[in-house]
Amino acid sequence: MLSPLDCDRLRDHLRAAAYDVDAVGARLGASGLAGLARNTTLAAADALGSEVDAQATLIRLFLLQQEVAVEHVRATLGEPESLLAAGVLASSGEGIRAGIELRPYATDEGFDGLICSDLAPNLDGRLAAPRPDFVLGVSPASTTLAQLTVRTPVGSALDLGTGCGVQSLHLSTHADRVVATDLNPRAVAMARLTARLNGIELDVREGSLYQPVAAEAFDLIVANPPYVMSPPGADRLVYREGSMLADDLVRQVITEGAGRLNPGGVLQVLGNWAITEAETWSERLEGWIRPTGCDALVLQREHLDPYEYIEIWLADAGLLGTGEYRSRYREWVDYFDHLGIVGVGLGWITLYNTERATPQLTIQEWPHLVHQPVGQAFADHPAALNAAALEDHALLASTWMLADDVIQETLGLAGAADPAHIVLRQTSGFGRAVEADTGLAAVLGACDGDLPLGLLIGGVADLLDADQAALAADLLPRLRPLIAEGLLRPAE
Ligand SMILES: C[S@@+](CC[C@H](N)C(=O)[O-])C[C@H]1O[C@@H](n2cnc3c(N)ncnc32)[C@H](O)[C@@H]1O
Repeated sequence: MLSPLDCDRLRDHLRAAAYDVDAVGARLGASGLAGLARNTTLAAADALGSEVDAQATLIRLFLLQQEVAVEHVRATLGEPESLLAAGVLASSGEGIRAGIELRPYATDEGFDGLICSDLAPNLDGRLAAPRPDFVLGVSPASTTLAQLTVRTPVGSALDLGTGCGVQSLHLSTHADRVVATDLNPRAVAMARLTARLNGIELDVREGSLYQPVAAEAFDLIVANPPYVMSPPGADRLVYREGSMLADDLVRQVITEGAGRLNPGGVLQVLGNWAITEAETWSERLEGWIRPTGCDALVLQREHLDPYEYIEIWLADAGLLGTGEYRSRYREWVDYFDHLGIVGVGLGWITLYNTERATPQLTIQEWPHLVHQPVGQAFADHPAALNAAALEDHALLASTWMLADDVIQETLGLAGAADPAHIVLRQTSGFGRAVEADTGLAAVLGACDGDLPLGLLIGGVADLLDADQAALAADLLPRLRPLIAEGLLRPAE
């Protein structure tokens, strides 16, 4: 796309103009930024007024998709020939427009840089269909994957289906080496430009799925793959749908990815899966994951009926209000009927190559509010499973701490002597909650890392005038899931 030298020159111009998240945010203000988040530019344009300084010029070009006078482009970016030749800029009437989007982007890990992608096709109410090889910028799905990624420092990481390179930017903050792959040559070029503009070392390779990394294994693999299950056809959009039947691409990302994890490695995938009458969604996912031998934590976040699902993606393709809408809708519904798909599950799949003798699969619906980022909660899962698997005598001999984000909620009639319900709830991570009776609440409340569990249960049994062995037999099976879910943690 751009020579390395031109790329560095572009980066220097962008820096000199303070084209970054904080400065642009301050310039556009809350309304301008909120408007851009809704794909409208008027509030941002109003914030710029008639100013023509370098930062305003960059915002007009790359965020508002406005035509800018050549003299202002020249004053901001120097002679534009190489940028025009590379498609970063495009001639437009008397002036110049952006050919791609360059958007300031900062990460929770302190990374502050730029993302390069195709121009959003739907600004200001436009309903343009994206080009087939369209490279999507940072989407809500990108952010979700970034927030659920385990951020433990690792030696090697793979960003499968890198697109604009957003996951690689995050990975570069905690992986010694990052490989990014994509089937789409245009995405490969965009990811390279993103990496170069941000000064990160990124090994970007073109090819389908794991083919570009045939003989390699990684400590961490992340993928926000093209998971949309659409009927076969020439008008597929490469950023959102593969060429495989139904959810077979997601299955392959998971099953082949598991085989490319180093010991202790983690694979994290955002996906859609088919729900059929022949099997439940969890049976389908278990069928994919069990043979890999990995532990897994799979959370189905949403379940859509076929019609809702199809409408979302028809709108995404810019087909709303077009003559094709109805026929494409019918074709898609027929495709699902033919495959026996009666619903679609959306969720998060994490595999852990723990090399456990008996893999532990946790596959559950979790449509409830989570407290992003949940990467640490995914990171903690294998150790929590180990702790939850301790023999009874070891559990009782160990000291435990109620996680410091757990709050107690009590519910009951006003004025009643005792609450009708006691709920202990995590206020971070997955936001797990448990309804506790008096015995469980008392024991959990006493878990402050001081005395072993057995002694605490003995003390609570005395208070409640209960049999200690019976109370332990009642509580241990109820405490294990709380340990596995991270509400209760080993003190040492
Ligand atoms: C939903 S986008 C995700 C982009 C980016 N990783 C993110 O999180 O925003 C999916 C990406 O997968 C790429 N892709 C599509 N089919 C692929 C395949 N068979 N192998 C590898 N990448 C593929 C697309 O070109 C696109 O860049």
